[in-house]
Amino acid sequence: MKNFEFCNPVRIVFGKGKIADLDRLIPENAFVLVLTGGGSVKNNGVFDQVTMALKSRKWEEFSGIEANPDYDTCMKAVERIKEKKIDFILAVGGGSVIDAAKFIVAAACHNGSDPWDIVTGQAKIKTALPFGSVLTLAATGSEMNAGSVISRRSIGAKLPFASEKVFPRFSILDPETTYSLPSHVSACGVVDAWVHVLEQYLSHAIHAPLQDRQSEALLLTLLEQGPKLMENPNDYDVRADIMWCATQALNGLIGCGVPQDWATHMIGHELTAAFGLAHAESLAIVLPALLRVRKEHKKTKLEQYGRRVLGVDDAGDPAEAAIVATEVFFKRMGLGVRLSDYGIPLEAVSMVADILDRRGFRLGEDRAVDGAMVRKILVMAS
Ligand code: NZQ
Ligand code: ZN
Repeated sequence: MKNFEFCNPVRIVFGKGKIADLDRLIPENAFVLVLTGGGSVKNNGVFDQVTMALKSRKWEEFSGIEANPDYDTCMKAVERIKEKKIDFILAVGGGSVIDAAKFIVAAACHNGSDPWDIVTGQAKIKTALPFGSVLTLAATGSEMNAGSVISRRSIGAKLPFASEKVFPRFSILDPETTYSLPSHVSACGVVDAWVHVLEQYLSHAIHAPLQDRQSEALLLTLLEQGPKLMENPNDYDVRADIMWCATQALNGLIGCGVPQDWATHMIGHELTAAFGLAHAESLAIVLPALLRVRKEHKKTKLEQYGRRVLGVDDAGDPAEAAIVATEVFFKRMGLGVRLSDYGIPLEAVSMVADILDRRGFRLGEDRAVDGAMVRKILVMAS
């Protein structure tokens, strides 16, 4: 096991009716900016529950955070915060609204250089406003981690940053808020959580039997409950299982002391920036091809994954069988597994590989995934 340091200070408040606890969780004298997305929380009653719980606190809404939150929109919220001297942010929505909040709380306290430097990592976050979240989509784990992904459409960028200054103070997880999700968005959440686990589990083999089994527990639960979610979207217990799985898939715990890959995510982000694919759609395309290209390197873990999670037997090529079973699961959840499933032409391959080359990224747990390998992966994914 590798050395590690682990600290996760996020208070999780889980269950039916828990939005009312905002009254307990937000300081009474706070001036709150409620951040929302494109309107889902107005249609499903979540916004009403939030405003009722805020009681007599002073608050304003900033709406219109888009899926794959945009830098320019976030900067408008920063302006409002500075102008009105707002001192607490409440993100109400999916990963995009929560990620936007993380950038906004840092940018609101940032002095000196261009706030975009926060996203590129050129500026260190020294301080940030406090914020909490009400999660409405089980997927990213953003509600319990210190990462954020910000898009900047004007320059075709989608980049991640992380800082422990932007952990939410609390996150409310009420599975009932997710009943209103379109079926495809729910499915995308399951696939995103699945790939988060694999990014931390499917590396070269290392002695970490506890982390392996923690990851396998999450995968087995997603495998069992994911299809049930498609059949019974209003089953509270299934919604609760998926929500808690997605949070734990990326709250840092399963990644302690093990090598982590994240190449699928970094390549997927470029596909989203270039072609507007939903985050999980990009992952379901890239992951199987990446696993095929890196099969020898990841062989031991791929075989373990196949055997322990997917019920693959040892005959033939068990690593390939594990990849095929992964594709079957993604398709069962209704996602495509090839660029062509979304009408993305082969020419896209060079474009995305060139962008990653220009960024100078060397990806994967061993930094072996360079532009040439990205090209190979995307040709295989065509
Ligand atoms: O904008 P609204 O109207 O709220 O609609 C959203 C959006 O259209 C809708 N939605 C959310 N909750 C709903 C709902 N519709 C009906 N009922 C509800 N209860 O769903 C759509 C997608 O929402 P979004 O927040 O964009 O999805 P997700 O949670 O998957 O977040 C995706 C973003 O998170 C980043 C992705 O790259 C992407 O930008 N990620 C963040 C990570 C992190 N912070 O750790 C890790 C992930 O790997 C990921 O990269
Ligand atoms: Zn993801």
